[in-house]
Amino acid sequence: MKLITDIVTDILTKAVIESFGDTIDKNEIAIQFTKDINLGHLQTNIALVSSKKLLKNPREVAQLIIDNISTGEVIEKLEIAGPGFINFYLNPKFISLYINDFNPSSWTYDLDIEQGTTVIDYSSPNIAKRMHIAHLRSTIIGDSIKRVYKFLKRKVVADNHLGDWGTQFGKLIVGYKRWLDKDAYNENSLEELERIYVKFEQESANDETLLPEARAELKKLQDGDEQNKALWQDFIDTSIKEYNKLYKRLDVEFDTYWGESYYFDSMPLVIDELISKNIAKESQGALIVEFDESENLHPCLIRKSDGATLYATSDLACIKKKMETYDLNKLIYVTDDRQSDHFKQFFRVSEMLDWNVNNIHVSFGLMKFADAHFSSRKGNVIRLETLLDEAESRALKIVEEKNPDLSTEEKKEIARVVGIGAVKYSDLSQNRSSTFVFDWDKNLSFEGNTSPYLQYVYARIQSILRKADFDNSIKQDLVFSTEIENKLVLQLTKYHSIILKTAETCKPNIIADYIYELAQMFNTFYNAINIIKSEGIEKHSRLVLINKVADTIKSGLDLLGIEVLDRM
Ligand code: ARG
Repeated sequence: MKLITDIVTDILTKAVIESFGDTIDKNEIAIQFTKDINLGHLQTNIALVSSKKLLKNPREVAQLIIDNISTGEVIEKLEIAGPGFINFYLNPKFISLYINDFNPSSWTYDLDIEQGTTVIDYSSPNIAKRMHIAHLRSTIIGDSIKRVYKFLKRKVVADNHLGDWGTQFGKLIVGYKRWLDKDAYNENSLEELERIYVKFEQESANDETLLPEARAELKKLQDGDEQNKALWQDFIDTSIKEYNKLYKRLDVEFDTYWGESYYFDSMPLVIDELISKNIAKESQGALIVEFDESENLHPCLIRKSDGATLYATSDLACIKKKMETYDLNKLIYVTDDRQSDHFKQFFRVSEMLDWNVNNIHVSFGLMKFADAHFSSRKGNVIRLETLLDEAESRALKIVEEKNPDLSTEEKKEIARVVGIGAVKYSDLSQNRSSTFVFDWDKNLSFEGNTSPYLQYVYARIQSILRKADFDNSIKQDLVFSTEIENKLVLQLTKYHSIILKTAETCKPNIIADYIYELAQMFNTFYNAINIIKSEGIEKHSRLVLINKVADTIKSGLDLLGIEVLDRM
């Protein structure tokens, strides 16, 4: 199967070659969906962009191209519009076949897609601390990109690059040995680790022996002391166990949990390579990589004068390790934009090393709260768990008002799907580059560009289909006579191109915008036309159409990691 844009591009390309040979560069031939069905389904500006070279006026060029396109199976009609656009109207028979076969939830196109493995590094919290809302965006944006890549049948590895190394472990070990409450640790390990960490900070303000003790414990750990290593491993295991509870709630899964420590063995190799290739140099006892002034980047610190390695060193070692492990094509890192310079630095170093990998930093702005209760606390102290609990309990209140007759269990399940969905959608529907304001009332509203609205439209379509006893297995030629039906058809045909664009830009809001527009079109259609009362082939066509609309909403939401329900 082929994308509609590809089918029409092929037809157009043939005609352009027949008209002008290779005077026109094939790469300039582009087809776009129209915004308005009254301009046909697709449009090209090729006549406009090539008219200069051909020394002809654009409308004349357009006419010469059109003369070489025969209408029929795929194209019903062609038109020249405005200064020289060519508009394509698809044949209703072709549309009927297309819509009958349209399966939004699977990728059936034989495109020459990316080769090699893409590793997506996301969530990546620092061990021994509970996850805070600051981790939310990375976790769900990364997960959505992973879903899109999987959908496109690309090879993808989801990696959780845990912060499992650093000075905090010396302090934790001291705290553990001195103050640990075993029962509390068994009950809620991360809470207890946080408590002893805070206690360490408090106590060390008055007790000067504590910091040196922590440094000594850290050194023992780094030198391979059995007891300290066992403790450190326990902190990691225990943290991952806690994180997994949240990941499960968010329906997020990882293939690997390779923390910073995983790359130790590769670090000396990277340092050797940097030195032997004359890329890194000594500066006041430290090892650094300097950049050209034009790059406007601070030097990248590789090794401190005391021999300690740094964040960038482990990230470079991480690339090396991944190149050895996979037939690596791309590395995508999802973090907030405060780390942008760090990524620019080691990406540049990786280029200087001639490493053949495409590094991409998918960055995002911070999340703020509109609501006083949450905004009065600093972002880093709102726990992710608290946020999710709050979302579900607010959703439950709404469900209780709307549907008091449902069983407690049903209400809870709806509240879970609506609550978690609302949190995810509020984030993913924003252009990730900007800061976004989290607003409970807006996110949980059943109106506007929200997840509850989309879930509700989905459930409403299911209820219409039930009422109409719709039989999905009947295959008949479809007819779409009204403008709004044809708008819906046009919107559906865009779906798979939208997913490709999302993968290209790593911007899930493209999918969100698309399904929101689709849902609004459906509502216009639903308000204008009584589907249940229509008859014969018209009724069947309309039911098929709304069934595909529902499937598309479901598939789009799934790519955002959001569930739907048949009844709400
Ligand atoms: N652990 C880091 C943090 O919490 C994020 C790691 C991102 N990934 C990476 N390869 N640097 O800020």
